[in-house]
Amino acid sequence: MTNTQTMIQGDCLDLMMGMPDAAFDAIITDPPYSSGSSVMNSKSDPRDKYNLSQAFPSFRNDSHDQRIHMLWTIHWLSLALRITRPGGWLMLFSDWRQLPLVSDAMQLTGWTWRGVVVWDKTEGCRPNPGMFRQQCEYILYATNGSRMPGPRCFPAGIFRASIPSRKNRHHMTGKPVALMEHLMTVLPAQSKILDPFAGSGSTLAAAQNLGHAATGIELSPAYYRIACNRLGLALAS
Ligand SMILES: C[S@@+](CC[C@H](N)C(=O)[O-])C[C@H]1O[C@@H](n2cnc3c(N)ncnc32)[C@H](O)[C@@H]1O
Repeated sequence: MTNTQTMIQGDCLDLMMGMPDAAFDAIITDPPYSSGSSVMNSKSDPRDKYNLSQAFPSFRNDSHDQRIHMLWTIHWLSLALRITRPGGWLMLFSDWRQLPLVSDAMQLTGWTWRGVVVWDKTEGCRPNPGMFRQQCEYILYATNGSRMPGPRCFPAGIFRASIPSRKNRHHMTGKPVALMEHLMTVLPAQSKILDPFAGSGSTLAAAQNLGHAATGIELSPAYYRIACNRLGLALAS
């Protein structure tokens, strides 16, 4: 299969501004959640929040306060809408804390919100004494106006998969490739996908497996290199 994956290092807010209208069939992305912002100050490092035994590079834009996070989310979602073709998809990860902010931002920017897929991370998640286990993350999905025709399929709205194991983990908040492939079930063959917050390239790895073309943008030079190595892409000089 030819490699139709591209990684770009830079700030997606700048880069999306220069992209043509209607360039992509789908935006599938997992932006920083800033979900600790009510209890952490703006200098917080995601390495403290996720507190993993495995060492990973840190990343930016995960510690906005709620107002800044709303403005920032509205800004990039507006850019994303313009570069998505009419009828194209948005699939956007969030945790429980930021669900209201993300669904508001999505609707305020003109996306047509259509539902939520639940990622069930299984009982392998850290327990929460006296409380329910925080076992789920969410993928809000929307379209740019009326949905474009796609394959006839009936994918489940809940996907159960453990957080990637040490061996398969390339990012502090890396998502399972099987989950990303499940999200792509509804896309027409050979779609053009953009992941503006690509991290270690899980969206691109799934797109590669399914024969879609994908572009990833990643701000951190360290994660850009990790994604390129993972996907077998040459680093830009
Ligand atoms: C939650 S992680 C994505 C992880 C990814 N789903 C994976 O499986 O590896 C979000 C990523 O967005 C990147 N990021 C933050 N702000 C950005 C920006 N303005 N432009 C591009 N990337 C950005 C961070 O460096 C981080 O790697």
